[in-house]
Amino acid sequence: MNKKIIVLLTVLIGLFSCTTSISEKDKEVYTSKGKEIAEASFLELSTQLTAQMKAGGTAQAIPFCNQNAMPITNQLSKKFEATIKRTSTNIRNEQNAPTDREVEIMNQYKKMISEKKDLNPIVELDVDAKKHFYAPIILKANCLVCHGKVSETVNIKTDSIIKSLYPNDKAVGYNEGDLRGVWSITFKN
Ligand code: HEC
Repeated sequence: MNKKIIVLLTVLIGLFSCTTSISEKDKEVYTSKGKEIAEASFLELSTQLTAQMKAGGTAQAIPFCNQNAMPITNQLSKKFEATIKRTSTNIRNEQNAPTDREVEIMNQYKKMISEKKDLNPIVELDVDAKKHFYAPIILKANCLVCHGKVSETVNIKTDSIIKSLYPNDKAVGYNEGDLRGVWSITFKN
């Protein structure tokens, strides 16, 4: 190969790896930051959801989530100085639609679940060279009243409330232990 081409290739590979690799130390730091944010966000959402379920069942909790899930996540994003997103390959709220990279990561996690492998968070640089954290969201038994199989765990009344607020809902039909989606957290710096 021509020398010039080799030099050019070396430079290009160097540039490419600068924007796509992350140091081991940063990986550790942002894995633990990401976990902390995902756990705090889950706790906040599930505490509020449980309170609404107790007060008025799915008829109250679904409209509550419809009105408040995004504002709660946005508030947490401000508090943690990071963009916090929940996404899925089967979304309920279209504002949570996944990026191509999020779909790849979810497919990777689904494959690992089918192979009975342990799922770990992923930290990498995104296309804008921002640090990005992903972690799986697994369906638990108490999620099934709103995300399980219609006319089994999701009763007909709940299904009609969901459909009225989310006519294009794709987020039913799940079983316990399925991958519901991922936390996708972008750090500001
Ligand atoms: C009372 C019904 C209800 C229960 C119980 C419930 N969800 Fe949801 N879920 C919703 C609604 C409504 C939305 C859409 C929220 C919005 O508009 O932002 C949603 C959205 C989501 C999303 C965002 C992605 C999307 O599809 O828009 C995830 C992830 C999610 N739920 C996971 C869970 C998990 C995990 C559990 C159990 C720990 C759970 N949900 C329990 C009603 C519920």
